This record gives sequence, C-alpha cells and structure tokens, in this order.
Amino acid sequence: MSAAMLRKNPQVEEKKVYRRAGRIQELEHQIERMFLRLRLAVVFGGNKSAEGAVIEATGNPRSWKSYETVARDIAASMVRAGCKEVSLMPDDMRLGESLREHDAHLAWLKTGGVQGHCSVAHAPAMMELFGIPYIGHDPMMAGILDSKHVFKRQLRSAGLPTAAFAIVLPEAGHYCPEEDPVFMNAFGEAEGPFIVKPVSGRASLNVMYVDKRADLAAAVEDVYGKTRNFVLIEQYLSGAEYCVAIGGPVISRGGTLERLEKPFIFSPLERVLDADEKIFTSMDVKPISGERARLLDPVKDARVRGELEALALAVWRQLGIETLVRLDIRADAHGRLHVLEANPKPDLKAPANGVTSLVSIGLSEFGMTYDDLILSIFADRMDMLLSERRGTADRLIRLI
Ligand SMILES: Nc1ncnc2c1ncn2[C@@H]1O[C@H](COP(=O)(O)OP(=O)(O)O)[C@@H](O)[C@H]1O
Ligand SMILES: [Mg+2]
Repeated sequence: MSAAMLRKNPQVEEKKVYRRAGRIQELEHQIERMFLRLRLAVVFGGNKSAEGAVIEATGNPRSWKSYETVARDIAASMVRAGCKEVSLMPDDMRLGESLREHDAHLAWLKTGGVQGHCSVAHAPAMMELFGIPYIGHDPMMAGILDSKHVFKRQLRSAGLPTAAFAIVLPEAGHYCPEEDPVFMNAFGEAEGPFIVKPVSGRASLNVMYVDKRADLAAAVEDVYGKTRNFVLIEQYLSGAEYCVAIGGPVISRGGTLERLEKPFIFSPLERVLDADEKIFTSMDVKPISGERARLLDPVKDARVRGELEALALAVWRQLGIETLVRLDIRADAHGRLHVLEANPKPDLKAPANGVTSLVSIGLSEFGMTYDDLILSIFADRMDMLLSERRGTADRLIRLI
C-alpha cells in the first residue's frame, strides 16, 4: 500500500502512528548523522534564456519565476540546522549533470519549472528518473495541484466544496458560452459575476473578475491568448477569503523534533480585502504584511478556524498529499467555504523587515520559527523516505 493510501485511511493511519511512536528520537539521531555528510542541492527555477538551459526556448503556460531568493533562504536555514554541504542550482536540462558533479544525495525542489506544459512536474520527474531522493511533491501530485482544473475535478469526486466551474479551450477562435455544453451544464442561465483564470497560475496573475456573462468571451480569449492552455470559468465567491497551511505530522519546535497525531495544520488567516478589491492583489504587487493577512484568533474565530482545519485535513487525506501545501479558500455569499486551490510550492521566504509569508505568519503560535518550519519539512520528508520508502532512498540510508 502506498504512503498516500496509508494517510488516507484514518484507521491505518492510527496504527502507523502507534507503530512508529518512539521513532522520533531515532529520526533525530539519523538526521544528526546525516547532516555530517549530506550533500543537499536546493534547486530553483532555471531561466530558459541562459546559455545551455534548453535546446529550444518555448512558451510558458505558467507564469515563470526563478524562486532563487527563496531557495537561498532555505539553503541558509539548512546550514543553520547543521547541514554542512548545501549547494544551489537551477532546474534546467543540465540538472542531472550538476547533481552528479556535486555528488548530491538529496534535492530540495523549489522550482516551478523552466518552460512548457506542466512545468512544476518536470523537476520531480527528473529526480525519479535520476534516482535522487527529493523534498517536494511527486510529479503526478505536483501536476495535479498546479492544474486547477484537474485539482477541482479531484475535489468534486471527493465531495469537497469548490466553486462551480467550466473548463474551456477556445482554440477555435471566438468563445460563446451559450454554445458550450460544459458551461451551460455548470451555470445554466446564471448571469454572473464570474472569475476567469488560468488553470496553472500563481499570485493572482491573469485572474479576472467578470461582472456579466456578455463579457465572458473577451476575458476567456484574453487568458487563453496569454497562456495557450485551458481556461477556468468559476462562479464568483463574494465572501471572505482565507488561507491555511498543512504539512506532514513531524515538526520541529525550538529545534526539537516531535510527531503530531495528525498532519500539522497552521497559519489559518483571513486575507484582508479592501472594500473594492474583488481579487486579492498579487503579492508581486503588494507584499504580504500584517494588514493584508490577519491570523485567525483561536477564541474569537474558533468556528471558522475549525472549518478551515477540517477542510485542510480532508483535502490532504482525500488526495493523498505528502508534503506542505497552502490552501486558498473563499466563502460564498452565505459564508460557506470553497477551496480555490492548493499551492504545491507555498512561499517559503524568510520573514524580514515587516514582510512575512502566508505560511510563516502563524508559526509563533506553535512556538516555532522559520528555521523550525524548514527543519519540519525536511524531517517529515526524511521520516517518510526512511521509514516507508526503503528502496527509493538508499543514497540517504547509506549516510546514517
Ligand atoms: N471563484 C472565485 N471567487 C472569488 N474570488 C476568486 C475566485 N477564484 C479566484 N479568486 C481570487 O483570485 C485570487 C487568485 O486565485 P487563485 O485561484 O488562488 O489562483 P492563484 O493564486 O494561483 O493566482 C484569489 O486569491 C481570490 O482573491
Ligand atoms: Mg492562490
């Protein structure tokens, strides 16, 4: 049975926790030993215009970002944790050679890919091919989470709430909602408002608010023109907007490892929208500050916190997610919560100068720092690789 399936079945999960109780000290010792010799490569997004990066530069259905600064933050944190040899390298066609040159034992994937379709899945797919263990989602999960249309179908089949939607590929030219059976099936006579957005996007880029049905075609064609990929039309949810992060059950608190009884759910927050702000402004435009993200109070906001936590846990278990994601969630006019997306690579930049990240904002509530978060992601993945995937992590096992 795969680890993903184990996590999905609560009964099996309880047994697993029981079986592995007491393993946490062993894991801590394994990591200490590992750190003495581990060569870790933190991989960021390669630039297709760099010499030798690709054979031929093509399009980017997903808006490209290098993530190099965040990769540096992760690398610096791992050095502080005690990992002696950490290198940084770009994700491009030379990645295999770079990993071989550095004789890397493990890769931390902080990349959305270089170019082409389903680019977030390229680096993990290469790791699978090379036989290099990695921190990050497997290629299929990375692809599912970064393809909102596929992810939403998964939510639907699991009975989890997400806004009504139609997936459109207006290749043939002019888009006409009334002639599209998928649109009619999802929306019938509804006049709007709608959201039109790319299926693979980030930071609200190319997300459009469309007030009336008559304006849908122009928006769909605009997004298609920019991404050359499926376009998502969604019902506009007019209520409050929230985020919540969820990662594996092994965490570090003040540098000491612990195993929780269930996945670690943290940083539940409300994204504060201005009165006329229909779509949360891209963090590329307005950085995340305390004013833009309000951590939910355990007492005053207990109800919505509980709902967010239950939703995060259900998505984690039903989809078989194995490492950190941040869910974006929005309420409809009746206050009912709907999952917008699960970000497979939530922002992990180190908080500095009053600017934080949606994931780090709630750590202090659990007595955790940014370094604890990074070590938690690392340790949880090591726990899984060492205890459930013997055979795929031999490079790591030889170090301990
Ligand atoms: N169906 C929707 N109803 C209301 N607002 C939405 C909807 N879909 C997206 N948005 C707004 O657009 C922002 C970006 O959408 P999201 O699905 O999170 O994509 P991404 O963050 O990858 O760009 C959200 O934070 C939210 O403010
Ligand atoms: Mg989002």
